[in-house]
Amino acid sequence: MLKGRHLLEPLDFSISELDDVFALAEEIIIQPELFARVCSGKLLATLFYEPSTRTRFSFEAAMYKLGGQVIGFSEPNSSSVVKGESIADTIRTVACYADIAVMRHPKEGAPKVAAYNTSMPVINAGDGGHQHPTQTLTDLLTIKSIKGSLNNLTVGLCGDLKFGRTTHSLIEALARYEGIRFVLISPEELRVPDYIRKEVLTKKGRSFTEVESMEEALPILDILYMTRVQKERFFNEEDYVRLKDRYILDAEKMKLAHEDMMVLHPLPRVNEIAVEVDNDPRAFYFQQAKYGMFVRMALIMKLLGV
Ligand code: NCD
Repeated sequence: MLKGRHLLEPLDFSISELDDVFALAEEIIIQPELFARVCSGKLLATLFYEPSTRTRFSFEAAMYKLGGQVIGFSEPNSSSVVKGESIADTIRTVACYADIAVMRHPKEGAPKVAAYNTSMPVINAGDGGHQHPTQTLTDLLTIKSIKGSLNNLTVGLCGDLKFGRTTHSLIEALARYEGIRFVLISPEELRVPDYIRKEVLTKKGRSFTEVESMEEALPILDILYMTRVQKERFFNEEDYVRLKDRYILDAEKMKLAHEDMMVLHPLPRVNEIAVEVDNDPRAFYFQQAKYGMFVRMALIMKLLGV
């Protein structure tokens, strides 16, 4: 039962609970009109302490498409946060009005603090450089829909694996499936955090390699998950400038890949995928953004128990 639960980390739901969410998302994709009023009278609060386009819009669009309504802020300076209100007090107040809340925050663990202070379902929409579980739901649904399964895949993750929260959540989630092999492609300075390497990959006995060269990895991948270098998490501009264009996927490099390799990206893209790749039938990142809305519709319905 997902009713009344929070979603803070990718492993909060079991594989079979995830399957239920994906099955519902697939039903919604086929006949969205059947779901147009199921959340009528329900209110979603979006508490965004950090910028967002897809995540916030897709949650808001999801709630509206279910017939529900939305309140919230996308700019903490317009709320009582500027007056120094704590997360605990903000969420207690929001729970007086809303039925479910989505929070993005620059500090790791902030949505967890919110969840401790309310019985209303709280969804982590990205906490600092830590986790982003609903992007992972999006990624898994996209992979499952296109590849037909989440097992037996060689998955390359490329770019900023240190600060990229989407990659941390995706690795944790995929590590539970059979026959998954990871190829972690990054410069030395942006390798995955130690807890991912030790607690997730090594402990679970997952096959993974860490490489610097994208060209070396491309020919063996079923999926290439590109990421942006997370400028806002760098301590100095110089390091960012040096690393930001380390990987650029272009049409020439795509020639090295399988003809059915999927290219994914959580977006926003900066330079890491050349625009010319958008027309390649293997580029799925805009479709992925669309799956994001459907999977969030399913998630909201499950957590509200409607
Ligand atoms: C990601 C995020 O916020 O972590 N964006 C998103 O939610 N789709 C990726 C990023 O900002 O690079």
